[in-house]
Amino acid sequence: MKKLTGLVICGSIVWCSSVIGADAPSLEKGKLLFNNEKLGTSGKSCATCHMDVNKLKSAAAYDEDKLVNIINQCITGPLEGKMLDSRSAEMKSLVLYLKSLKTK
Ligand code: HEC
Repeated sequence: MKKLTGLVICGSIVWCSSVIGADAPSLEKGKLLFNNEKLGTSGKSCATCHMDVNKLKSAAAYDEDKLVNIINQCITGPLEGKMLDSRSAEMKSLVLYLKSLKTK
């Protein structure tokens, strides 16, 4: 019986963290997405054109709506990808990442 309880607890921790982890926006996720060509279909990533992220520092000061618009322009344009919902974890993560550049 003890064994079984342990298994159940273990199982639910794994399940919970995968469920929460899948949707929670984070800076790390934004950085990964920024360097990932899977955001679009052109074989490019954000980093292909924005290799020097220091040049994006000023964009860190834009308000979120403006940033979302610009990011979607870069996604639907050069990346030939699908627009991201402003409430999606992907977009929120990208915004978090770009905002973090201000302090670097
Ligand atoms: C084909 C090249 C290309 C790709 C790929 C690309 N961008 Fe851009 N991006 C540009 C150009 C060109 C501009 C406008 C000129 C500039 O400010 O550098 C720009 C502007 C921006 C700006 C505004 C910069 C400012 O200071 O106003 C942000 C933020 C940005 N891009 C983010 C992204 C993100 C995030 C991605 C990936 C989803 C991405 N870009 C993919 C070329 C690209």
